[in-house]
Amino acid sequence: MSDLFSPLTLRGLTLRNRTVVSPMCQYSAQMGLANDWHLVHLGRFAIGGFGLVIVEATGVEARGRISYGCLGLWSDAQIEPLKRVVDFVHSQGAAIGIQLAHAGRKASSQLPFLPKPNAEDKARHSYEEWTPVAPSAVPHDARSKVPHALSIEEIADIREAFVNAAIRAERAGFDLVELHFAHGYLVNQFLSPLANKRDDIYGGSRENRMRLALEIAEAVRRVWPEDKPLFARISTQDWHPDGWQVEDSIVLAGELEARGLDLIDCSSGGFAEGKVVPGPAYQVPFAEAVRKGANIRTMTVGLMGDPDDAEKAISEEKADLVALARPALDDPNWPVRTMTAAGLKPEAYALHAKQAGYAVRGLHAALDSD
Ligand SMILES: Cc1cc2nc3c(=O)[nH]c(=O)nc-3n(C[C@H](O)[C@H](O)[C@H](O)COP(=O)(O)O)c2cc1C
Repeated sequence: MSDLFSPLTLRGLTLRNRTVVSPMCQYSAQMGLANDWHLVHLGRFAIGGFGLVIVEATGVEARGRISYGCLGLWSDAQIEPLKRVVDFVHSQGAAIGIQLAHAGRKASSQLPFLPKPNAEDKARHSYEEWTPVAPSAVPHDARSKVPHALSIEEIADIREAFVNAAIRAERAGFDLVELHFAHGYLVNQFLSPLANKRDDIYGGSRENRMRLALEIAEAVRRVWPEDKPLFARISTQDWHPDGWQVEDSIVLAGELEARGLDLIDCSSGGFAEGKVVPGPAYQVPFAEAVRKGANIRTMTVGLMGDPDDAEKAISEEKADLVALARPALDDPNWPVRTMTAAGLKPEAYALHAKQAGYAVRGLHAALDSD
């Protein structure tokens, strides 16, 4: 028996197992629209047996995209291309969520694989550049643009942009929404004293710095269907003595739970000043601390590609879901291969797409390993 491959029910949604594809920016959209790349990239994970696939950080407004190549859900025209991805993932038995995001002062950045676009690149990729926004006019680092500090009215507009994007996500057929409150992006900038230098109701005390996150959570929960789960990804700590700490995350998670959130996706880091110390399964203790401290389900992520680590995180009740990003890119068949390696062969053949399961069974029989 495997706990990692046991189902999990959250409200009206049952995931076939606990393996999740973590949201991953593909920098491959134009004008925020999904295309064939997103269909094939995300669809392949559903074929490989993941229980849940989460679409990359998707801008709730155009200036909230990390780059001009990021997905968006600020206009109705962006619904249909995403629905195509949703329908395919569902056809393979996986669930699909979308990460709704605002990059704040980390917006308008260059693509990692095209750091210096020339005129031809810019024309081909619908290049855009803009002034980012943030809680305070403090840049992310020495090379970043100085952001515009948001007024109270502008903060309310961003909250509404999250709500409208969630309504569009429902129209696209998504099973769940994950609110992106992590990695030094806009809401994390409000949470962390490293970026939030405001002296109004959105700055200063922890209660004030949490205000935007809680307002967004509450407003989105109100429009997101009762039978569908709502997640938030948080940076459980900034890895800096003057920054946000795990104890703060436990308080935040408790407040989010009180507003109807179903699970906290526990990541960390995102500020230039922070010094992250990664290692295998290094964020499991954060998921465990939040799970026990706030009595809410958690997802762990970060160097979880070793199947033993993934299985243990679930069986030892440190997390309820395990998310993979780079290991999933490296092996989109990670779930079926992990099941096979664990000796759960009939289950693995059944988890494969029907076009592959019988053939892989034949392969193993031919090799006399069945
Ligand atoms: C190519 C790439 C794109 C990413 N984009 C996002 C994103 O859109 N949203 C997010 O919350 N994290 C993003 N991340 C972080 C991953 O979701 C994950 O938290 C991190 O890579 C650690 O997991 P891993 O060790 O399994 O890769 C990205 C990571 C990679 C490698």
